[in-house]
Amino acid sequence: MLGCLYVENSIQRFSLQYVGYFSCDSSCLDLVLFPLVPALDVGYNLLVLCCVRGRGSSLLFVSSSHHLAHSPSYVLPMLPKACGYVEETVTYSDVLTTEELEGKPVKIRCRNMNILGVSADSVVPPPAEVVEDMGISEPLIGTMDIFLLGISLTIGVYWFFIRGRNEQNSIDIGALKVTPNTTSSSSSAGLIEKMKTSGRNVVVFYGSQTGTAEEFAGRLAKDCQRYGMKGMAVDPEEVEMEDLPQLSEIENSMAIFCMATYGEGDPTDNSQEFYEWLQEGSVDLTGVKYAVFGLGNKTYEHYNEMGVFVDKKLEVLGAERIFELGLGDDDANIEEDFVTWREKFWPAVCENFGVEATGDESSIRQYSPVFHGEEILKEKVFSGEAARLGSFNNQKPPYDARNPFLAPIQVNRELHKGGDRSCMHIEFNITDSKLRYEAGDHVAVYPMNDQGLVERIGKLLEVDLDTVFSLKNVDEEASKKHPFPCPTTYRTALSFYVDITSNPRTNVLKDIMDYATEQKDKDQLQLLSSSSPEGRNEYNEWVIKDSRNIVAVLEDLPSCKPPLDHLLELLPKLQARYYSISSSPKLYPNSIHITAVLVEYTTRVGRKAKGVATSWLQDKIPNGPDNVPRVPIYVRKSQFRLPFRPSTPVIMVGPGTGLAPFRGFIQERHHAKEDGKTLGDTVLFFGCRKKDEDFIYQDELMNYLENKTLSQMFVAYSRDQEKKVYVQHIMEEHKDTIWKILEDGGHIYVCGDARNMAPDVQKMLHTIICEKGGHSDTEAQDYIKKMQTKGRYACDVWS
Ligand SMILES: Cc1cc2nc3c(=O)[nH]c(=O)nc-3n(C[C@H](O)[C@H](O)[C@H](O)COP(=O)(O)OP(=O)(O)OC[C@H]3O[C@@H](n4cnc5c(N)ncnc54)[C@H](O)[C@@H]3O)c2cc1C
Ligand SMILES: NC(=O)c1ccc[n+]([C@@H]2O[C@H](COP(=O)([O-])OP(=O)(O)OC[C@H]3O[C@@H](n4cnc5c(N)ncnc54)[C@H](OP(=O)(O)O)[C@@H]3O)[C@@H](O)[C@H]2O)c1
Ligand SMILES: Cc1cc2nc3c(=O)[nH]c(=O)nc-3n(C[C@H](O)[C@H](O)[C@H](O)COP(=O)(O)O)c2cc1C
Repeated sequence: MLGCLYVENSIQRFSLQYVGYFSCDSSCLDLVLFPLVPALDVGYNLLVLCCVRGRGSSLLFVSSSHHLAHSPSYVLPMLPKACGYVEETVTYSDVLTTEELEGKPVKIRCRNMNILGVSADSVVPPPAEVVEDMGISEPLIGTMDIFLLGISLTIGVYWFFIRGRNEQNSIDIGALKVTPNTTSSSSSAGLIEKMKTSGRNVVVFYGSQTGTAEEFAGRLAKDCQRYGMKGMAVDPEEVEMEDLPQLSEIENSMAIFCMATYGEGDPTDNSQEFYEWLQEGSVDLTGVKYAVFGLGNKTYEHYNEMGVFVDKKLEVLGAERIFELGLGDDDANIEEDFVTWREKFWPAVCENFGVEATGDESSIRQYSPVFHGEEILKEKVFSGEAARLGSFNNQKPPYDARNPFLAPIQVNRELHKGGDRSCMHIEFNITDSKLRYEAGDHVAVYPMNDQGLVERIGKLLEVDLDTVFSLKNVDEEASKKHPFPCPTTYRTALSFYVDITSNPRTNVLKDIMDYATEQKDKDQLQLLSSSSPEGRNEYNEWVIKDSRNIVAVLEDLPSCKPPLDHLLELLPKLQARYYSISSSPKLYPNSIHITAVLVEYTTRVGRKAKGVATSWLQDKIPNGPDNVPRVPIYVRKSQFRLPFRPSTPVIMVGPGTGLAPFRGFIQERHHAKEDGKTLGDTVLFFGCRKKDEDFIYQDELMNYLENKTLSQMFVAYSRDQEKKVYVQHIMEEHKDTIWKILEDGGHIYVCGDARNMAPDVQKMLHTIICEKGGHSDTEAQDYIKKMQTKGRYACDVWS
């Protein structure tokens, strides 16, 4: 069963020979591999050893990007970028223990690859059941396989221990040479070189998922000019961070890090590799000056862990901290936290470098507008595509954040039976898209801004929204040429590319101040963007608490009419919205379901406000074959997974839309049961306001209860009686059941509100562990920590 696969990802093309079964299509490669070295970090890490044979045989350690964080450092140099594209499949828990593997073969799914061809010189077709379901529990290894595996392993071990060490920078696998990623124009050496040639001495790295850290980094880089310095904001994924020590070669240089935290204290996707490299800790950063601003949210348990980690680790590695760590709390006012930190940061920089502020406070534009006349061809103008021109008309897999799939909506129905709120059940048709998902994954939806608001901006600023324009970076060496896809029209930019509904940040208010013609409007903008206590207070009241977006600001300060191209440069990017997928591919391989509650509220000053994505989705109702709305989506893998064995008991706690991923989990368990597998206890704690209004999916859940997929379901109705009853209250009533499941090695999952519900549920869990297990507070904390580490306690929460 040796075969050769020619694989191409966006960085390189390579071929690999493998041991195991495979199935592939044009975007996705499934491998069933044998866990020769199942896990190095016992009890936590899934690390699969894949034997790769070719000219210069080698070993490829495959693990998910999450797990790479815990895997040995030699993984990355061996097949640098391929690892980043490999994800283990999720028919089992993402977090496997060695015991759970039990020597069984493991299924790997490599996404976002173009499988160019398969050479089948020695391919033995896999058994029918493997083709059918790529199952992993069947006995797949035959005598011949073991023999081949043994040979491969020997060659691999030889390569790894004897040859591999000398070949870390260039690996020859099969016919094609694999070299570390050097495609980025701003490669590692390139970065320092570029800084030197362009006279820059400050680099601001950002670890950002939804743009805030990136925005802060851009502002810090821009600040530099005020101190006679020159800075640039840089995505750590686009450069070789290994060259950071060379920064000290530049006089008066420093690195600033704006780092957001996600999940369970995890890095953002774009800072994952940087995080792993820091963890490795083998670099000497003596002579490098740095400062860190962390972005987090206090409602999450692992508050700002990434900022804290980076700040500490850089010091341990010898770098010199020139200013104390700043921590921004997105639950309160992260803008204020940032501005306050920045205000003290720059004087510290001045002292350290012996420089002074130039006193020039005027705003300098980063982009200059270019207006296109009628000569520009319509096909050359972006109409909302995320990155590739024409990608909406000419859809090509693989689909991802830069190339989303325009998914037809096949179902959009109301789930609430009464009350004044709305909750949508939406099904995206993914037939022929080659999109794959697993229960527990998230789907990202690119929304469109409300057209009424877009028109309003056009009217307020007195512009023709059909004007075709481009914004070009004035710094020709910058890697980011445009703030969003250009050329485009004002209407498209306002509809798809910039955020016009969140609270504008102080730098935006400051930069549009000069365009106000009336003194009182100017004064208000001056006050709002000032860092004085009065200014901060006014910003907090007038912008945040009154929920003013940029449209409301322009309406309420009517003499302020910035040129639209300048405003578009200042506004943050419109972000995709994530939804916990509420279906299982086992039941719905051709559709992805979501469960989304409509966001609608009235601001303190009486304006009606609507959530961008949910109000846009609300109108997307299919009406016959000729009227099928389409929505740009992509799938984002998560770590939220059912346990490997269906026989492992599970408890799911998900009030409101927190039920979403559990609908997928329950479908998954149902499928396993129908397949003849024995199910462990499957217990659901659900909560809603009123039984007759928002008990979503009630009929489905009752059916699952009846057919014993769900062993128990407990529902808390918070508003059906005078006193609030929440999920944690009914958990207390059923503490014996919960304790037994925990002691039986069960898993517990929580989904929904991060701010109040998830911490309250955790407190109840803690109480139950103390009470039923006779544990002290500290022991209960350890118990929970251990469950988290082993993947037995997982949260999928948002606020
Ligand atoms: C990992 C993850 C999974 C998620 N899963 C789901 C899911 O399964 N189902 C689901 O419905 N959502 C889910 N969400 C939330 C979802 O991504 C969106 O945030 C949500 O749908 C709102 O998006 P929107 O564009 O409609 O609203 P936005 O335009 O983003 O508006 C929301 C913002 O409006 C403001 N706001 C809301 N209510 C008020 C109020 N009463 N007063 C003042 N301001 C207010 C808040 O600032 C809030 O952040 C998830 C989020 C994450 C991160
Ligand atoms: N960022 C966003 O725009 C956005 C959008 C959608 C949802 N969300 C978040 O997602 C959560 C779920 O939204 P939803 O509309 O689906 O749920 P929901 O209907 O508001 O709430 C579900 C149930 O949870 C109850 N609840 C309230 N506080 C609780 C607590 N501390 N512990 C346990 N239960 C509690 C509610 O009770 P009462 O209401 O009667 O108190 C209700 O019965 C919301 O809480 C919200 O924070 C955020
Ligand atoms: C799904 C999700 C998970 C998060 N997890 C954490 C966390 O574990 N710890 C934390 O401090 N902040 C957490 N946050 C808050 C973000 O770090 C914070 O909003 C930050 O400003 C985002 O920066 P970005 O826009 O640059 O990605 C989380 C936010 C979301 C949406």
